[in-house]
Amino acid sequence: VPEVRAVELIPGRGIRCIDQTRLPRELVTLELGDLDGVCEAIRSLRVRGAPLLGIVGAAGMAMAAERSDASDVALEQAAAALLATRPTAVDLGHAVRRALAAARAAGQSADRRRQALWRFATELLEAQRASDSALAAHGAALLNERGSVLTHCNTGALATGGLGTALAVVRELWQRGFLERCYATETRPLLQGARLTAWELVQEGIPVPLLPDGAAASLLASGRVAAVFVGADRIARNGDTANKIGTYALALAARRHRVPFYVVAPSTTFDPECPDGGAIPIEFRSAEEVLSFQTCRAAPEGAEAYNPAFDVTPAELIDGIVTEHGVLRPPLAAAIERLNDVLTGRAIH
Ligand code: MRU
Repeated sequence: VPEVRAVELIPGRGIRCIDQTRLPRELVTLELGDLDGVCEAIRSLRVRGAPLLGIVGAAGMAMAAERSDASDVALEQAAAALLATRPTAVDLGHAVRRALAAARAAGQSADRRRQALWRFATELLEAQRASDSALAAHGAALLNERGSVLTHCNTGALATGGLGTALAVVRELWQRGFLERCYATETRPLLQGARLTAWELVQEGIPVPLLPDGAAASLLASGRVAAVFVGADRIARNGDTANKIGTYALALAARRHRVPFYVVAPSTTFDPECPDGGAIPIEFRSAEEVLSFQTCRAAPEGAEAYNPAFDVTPAELIDGIVTEHGVLRPPLAAAIERLNDVLTGRAIH
C-alpha cells in the first residue's frame, strides 16, 4: 500500500506538500517556503482538511519567523494573515494561536523563536499521526458485523497528514475484514469525494462506489449502509458539528432510516469557546465554483450561486463522536465537558 504523505516539514526551510487541486490526474508536490505561498495554498485548497490546515498553519508561522525578525509584531501579523484564509476549521486557529504562544515562551531571541516554532509544528504533526491511529481503532469497534459504510468529502491521509479521521476508520475496518465497500459522495462543488477519497481508497484496493450527493438519501433508504462516518471542521460545546456542506443532509437522512451517524475527529477540532452551532463561522466561497464545473462554465450568464462550504449538523442527529480518547455518546454536551476536563487536566482519574 503506497503511503500518502500529505505534508512533510523541512525545519529551517519550509514544507513539501501534495497539491490536492491536481489530484487524481497528477501527483504534484509543492515546496512552500514563505507565508504568502502558504496562505495561497490554503485559500485555493491545495492543502485542506481541518487537521492538515492546523499543521500547515503552524509551519506557516515558522516560515514567517524565518523570513522576519520573529518579533511579536511580525508573528502577530503572520497569525492574522493565516487566520484570515479560511474561517471554519478550528484546528487552524488553535494551531496558529498555540504557535504564537510557543514562540513567546521561547523568549526574545529570534533563533530560539524559530526553533520553537519548528518544534511545535513537528510535534503537532507527530501528535496528529498518533491520534489518527487511536481514532481508527475506536471507530472500527463501532461496527459489530461486516457491512458497508458511507462517507463524505475527504477525511483521509490527505486531510490530516496522518492516516486520516473517518477514512482511517474505513481503512481499519477493511484491514479487520469488516468492510464490504465504502460508498463515497462525490462532494460537490469541488469534488473532494470523487477526486481525493476515491483516489485514496482505490490505491488501497478498497471498493468505492461513488455517488452524486443527491443519491445519498435513497442509498440510506435502501438498507445497503451499516453506518455513516464523516469528519468535522469544528465541534461546539453542545456537540453541534460543522463539516463539509451536505453533511447535515446526510445526518437527516441517516436518522430517518435509522442508520447510525458518527463524526470522527481529534480533540483539536473541539472548540470550547463555541457554545453551539450558531456561533460557528461558516465559510462562503466564490460563485464560480458552483456556476462552473471544474473550469468549464455550466450555468447561464446571469445565474447566481449559493455556495456555503460547510453546514452544521445538530448534536441530536449524531450517534457518537469518535475521538482519540474514545467514543463520546449522547448526551454529547456532557460527554464533551468530560473530555475537556480530561484535556485541561481538571479530571480526577
Ligand atoms: O473544504 P475542505 O476540503 O477543507 O473540507 C474538509 C472537510 O470538510 C473534512 O470533512 C474535515 O476537514 C474533516 S478532515 C479530517
